Amino acid sequence: MKVTVVGAGNVGATCADVLAYREIANEVVLVDIKEGFAEGKALDIWQKAPINLYDTRTVGVTNDYSKTAGSDVVVITSGLPRKPGMTRDDLISTNAGIVTSVTENIVKHSPDAIIIVVSNPLDVMTYAAHITSKLPRTRVMGMAGILDTARYRAFLAEALNVSPKDIQAVLMGGHGDTMVPLPRYTTVGGIPVTELIDEETLNAIVERTKNGGGELVKLMGTSAWYAPGSAAAQMVEAIVRDQRRVFPVCVKLEGEYGIDGVYLGVPVILGKNGIERIIELDLNEDEKQLLETSRGHVKEVMDALDNINAAKA
Ligand code: NAI
Ligand code: 2OP
Repeated sequence: MKVTVVGAGNVGATCADVLAYREIANEVVLVDIKEGFAEGKALDIWQKAPINLYDTRTVGVTNDYSKTAGSDVVVITSGLPRKPGMTRDDLISTNAGIVTSVTENIVKHSPDAIIIVVSNPLDVMTYAAHITSKLPRTRVMGMAGILDTARYRAFLAEALNVSPKDIQAVLMGGHGDTMVPLPRYTTVGGIPVTELIDEETLNAIVERTKNGGGELVKLMGTSAWYAPGSAAAQMVEAIVRDQRRVFPVCVKLEGEYGIDGVYLGVPVILGKNGIERIIELDLNEDEKQLLETSRGHVKEVMDALDNINAAKA
């Protein structure tokens, strides 16, 4: 299996590293626009192979998409990360230009690839990649839900003093402050979380999760990469190994949850064809309201992108 990761920065290089050391692909091509940057990162990861004992080949290129030809999966992380005081939506214009041109190059050389978008604002960059690629919606998706859910699970594991492995959860909606946590669908070793934690602590964890990205930006002056890179690699693994894992993934909704034409995180089954199935949960009225707020926010940013594109045309 061949996987391309576009953007050799913090998230892209971390993702490539996980793909390599876990031998999720035979070949990982890392692409960046900065001269020599991807080549250096790929060489460094390759030189780690004799230490960590893996044989995935990592190759780096500066903007040469011919080397990405025939990729089975492509992860797009190219773009600016969020700086303190910046919202994800501030990134829209610059990152949409980058994601659009990268997607054009990708589909030219790998027309059968499955594309996973990571660049922010995530839901709208998934929209930009999908309309540019002209691929079916099941083959162009965004990574955010696994990351947001992982943060929620990590905070819960800490509060309950249990292994994060035993916490199962799902979050829906856009990647941002309007994400929709679902405590009703959160379990700890099969036990509903509400039987183990008081409402006030759970609400505080939900709020911390919503601001999880911002918390790290404040601490580090740039956005996170270990968990985001690993989350994208986990999606690649589910696809290339046809694992049929159940993950929250950003996809264009076409009537599911009563929503049409908006890109939002929902639980899906991920396998060799990309999104094998969208799972529709029976949301209660409060959850539906939260999802509607999230839909409205993502739609506003999609409209902003449409306006930018119309002004350019
Ligand atoms: P970074 O700045 O470390 O890396 C971005 C890389 O993209 C740079 O090396 C840059 O040279 C490259 N690049 C820019 N234009 C390019 C082009 N046209 N072609 C190829 N490469 C290009 O940023 P980082 O931290 O890796 O973040 C990447 C993106 O992922 C950001 O937009 C960030 O907001 C987003 N992100 C999304 C998350 C999610 O949950 N979806 C989580 C974390 C970050
Ligand atoms: C994150 O959630 C900023 O989207 C980035 O870490």
